[in-house]
Amino acid sequence: MDVIEAIRARKSIRGYKPDPVPKEVLRKVLDTAIRSPSSLNTQPWEITVLAGEVLDSIKRGNIEKLASGTLPNPDIGGKPYEGVYRERQVGLAKQLFGLMGIAREDKEARARWMERGFRFFDAPAAIIISVDKSLGESYSMFDVGAISQTICLAALKHGLGTCIANQGVMYPEMVRRFTGVPESKRIVISIAIGYPDWDFPANKLESTREPVDNVTTWCGF
Ligand SMILES: Cc1cc2nc3c(=O)[nH]c(=O)nc-3n(C[C@H](O)[C@H](O)[C@H](O)COP(=O)(O)O)c2cc1C
Repeated sequence: MDVIEAIRARKSIRGYKPDPVPKEVLRKVLDTAIRSPSSLNTQPWEITVLAGEVLDSIKRGNIEKLASGTLPNPDIGGKPYEGVYRERQVGLAKQLFGLMGIAREDKEARARWMERGFRFFDAPAAIIISVDKSLGESYSMFDVGAISQTICLAALKHGLGTCIANQGVMYPEMVRRFTGVPESKRIVISIAIGYPDWDFPANKLESTREPVDNVTTWCGF
């Protein structure tokens, strides 16, 4: 698969086979991904790979927090999307719910769908990326984005699917409790990883994009 094919083939996978991913395979993915660029080659990413009982404990912890009504308190701030961004968010949800057969008014099914995200989509492994808090949000956030996409692309070579997901780290205290990632680190993002279950309806989703001409200004041509 060449690089263009890989970029076009990558998509968020939200349903996985239970098969474990060998540690050696995950190591190879990461060994490639750490070739990602970073600001001044600072390589701010600190990677925690989860599987087995540790991952199960975090999944359970996340779900318990959610069920108890605890408000998420991610290490990355943000505010609700508005305007065109909100429209795109709603568009994605409509596509996903359509594929999953979840009716708009079916609050119970929507809640169950949300739980899935907090369970890393039942993936057999997950990658957590943190950065030292001394870096602030700065370009380190950009660097984490770069390595995240590279992980997703490198994973394809091994038949693995991925889903970058902030849901998995919405309760960072759960990640800290079971992995020992200290308070001095900002837990930025999770990436669910595993072998895709291609029969899972949401994996059929083809997410939309604004055409290039809507997001590009050409100067000097
Ligand atoms: C920073 C970031 C956070 C994301 N968080 C979630 C998430 O919590 N749950 C989820 O289902 N997808 C999540 N996604 C996946 C996006 O919804 C997805 O990338 C987008 O809809 C485009 O679809 P595609 O990845 O299939 O091309 C996240 C993606 C990014 C880059």
